[in-house]
Amino acid sequence: MASAEMIDWTFSKVSTKEFTHGFHTYPARMHPEIAKQLIEKYASDTKKVVFDPFMGSGGVLVEAMLHGNNAIGIDINPFSVFLSKIKTTPLNSKKLNKIFDKIIENSKKDISNKKSYKNAPKDLDLKFWYPRGIPKKLQILKHNIFELDIPEKEKNFFKLCFSLTQRKVSFQKTNIYKIYRIKPEKRKEFKPDVFKIFSKICKINIEKMDNFTKETKKTSGKTVVILGDTRNTVGEFKKIRKKILDKGKAHLVVTSPPYGDHGTTVAYGQFSRYPGQWLELPKQKELSSVDKIGLGGKKKKDFSDLESPLLEKTLKVIKKKDSEVTKKTAHYSRARDVFAFFFDLDECFGQISKVLKKGDSHCCFVVANRRVRREVIPTDKIIVELARKYGFRHKETIYRKIINKAMASKNTPENIVDYRDETMNEESIVVWEY
Ligand SMILES: C[S@@+](CC[C@H](N)C(=O)[O-])C[C@H]1O[C@@H](n2cnc3c(N)ncnc32)[C@H](O)[C@@H]1O
Repeated sequence: MASAEMIDWTFSKVSTKEFTHGFHTYPARMHPEIAKQLIEKYASDTKKVVFDPFMGSGGVLVEAMLHGNNAIGIDINPFSVFLSKIKTTPLNSKKLNKIFDKIIENSKKDISNKKSYKNAPKDLDLKFWYPRGIPKKLQILKHNIFELDIPEKEKNFFKLCFSLTQRKVSFQKTNIYKIYRIKPEKRKEFKPDVFKIFSKICKINIEKMDNFTKETKKTSGKTVVILGDTRNTVGEFKKIRKKILDKGKAHLVVTSPPYGDHGTTVAYGQFSRYPGQWLELPKQKELSSVDKIGLGGKKKKDFSDLESPLLEKTLKVIKKKDSEVTKKTAHYSRARDVFAFFFDLDECFGQISKVLKKGDSHCCFVVANRRVRREVIPTDKIIVELARKYGFRHKETIYRKIINKAMASKNTPENIVDYRDETMNEESIVVWEY
C-alpha cells in the first residue's frame, strides 16, 4: 500500500465496474478504489470489521469481502439492501448460465405462443415510460424469472438483471437520478431490443459474479446488510446474531453520506421506486418514504447548538440570504434544510462512535461541498467539528477530483436541486482516529 501522498486519488484509469461493482446503477456511487485503499490502510488485519453506515450500492462491502474482512452495511433504502445483498453473495456461474438459458427459452416460447402477462407495477404509466411493444416483453421476462423454480439467491440475481433491463429500455434519461424522460425526437428513434439487452446484461453480470466468487473463495470475509436507520446504529448492531463483529463492535467506517436532504439533493427513493415496484420488493412502504425519512428529511422546529462554529457561521449567512429573497423566488428557509441535515448527521456520528472499538478504530467519510443560496457549505470541515465531541480525532483530509460520478450536471443555484455545481467536481476524504 502506497502512502496517501503517493496515491493519485482520482483513479481515472481504474475501472469502477470490476467484480460485482457494475451490477446496477445507483446514484452517487463511491469509486471502489477509494474503499479498497482505505481498507488496505486501516483494516489490513483482516480480523478488523468494516462498517458502511450509508451503504448505497454496497461497494464498500464488496471491497471488504475481496480483502477478506467481515463487513456490515446499513441503509434506509430497501433497493440499496436488495442490491448490496446480491453483490456480496457469491454464486456459481455454471448454474447461472443454465438458468439464463431457461429464462430466454421460456420467454421466446411465450412470444411464439402469443402469451401476455399483467405484472407491471400498477401505478406505472407504461405508455409514458416505454416505447410501444416493450412493456409486453418486459412482462414476459418478469414472469419467466419470477415463476422459475430456483433458489432465492439465484432468482434475485436475475431480478437485478431484469431491473437494469427495464431501465435501459425505458425513456428514462440515463445520466441523472431524478426521473426525467429523454427528448421527444430521441423517443421517436428509440427502439430497444428487450431480450438482447437483458441477455447482454446477464452475460456481463455472470462473468463479473464468476470473478467475484473465485476471488472471495480465497478470502473468508462475511457480510451482513441491514435495512435500517443509521440514527439507530446501536440498535441495529444489537440485532446482528452472526458472529461477524468483534465483541459487538467494528473497527473501520468507510462511507459516503448523502450530500444533504434527499429532497434538494439526490433523490435515492425516487431513483429506486420503479425498480422496487417491478421487483415487488417486500418493503414497499419503506421504499416510498426513503426521501422523506433520509437524513435531513424532517425539518426541526428550532435551531440548536451542535458545537460547530463553522456550521453556525454558515447558517447565519444562509438565514440572511433567506430573508433577502423576494416572494417571487422560493422564499422558504433553506437554512432549515441545511440545519436538519447536519442535525441528523450529528446524531449518526454519536451512534457510530458507540459501535467502534475505542483506541483501535478509524472512520473515513467521503463528502462533497454543495452550495445553498450560492453559498458553499463546507461539509468537509463542519463534520470535523461535529464529530469532535464524540471523541473522533481528525487525522487528515485528502482532496480528490471527481471524474465520471453519476450525478446531475450543473444546476442553477436558485434551483431547488442545487446540490451540484462547480464546487462539487472535488470531494474530500475525511479521516479520523477513534
Ligand atoms: C451517497 S449514497 C451512498 C453511496 C454508496 N457509497 C455507494 O457507493 O453506492 C448515501 C446513502 O445514504 C442512505 N441514507 C440516507 N439517510 C440514511 C439514514 N438515516 N440511515 C441509513 N442510510 C441513509 C441513502 O439511501 C443512500 O443510499
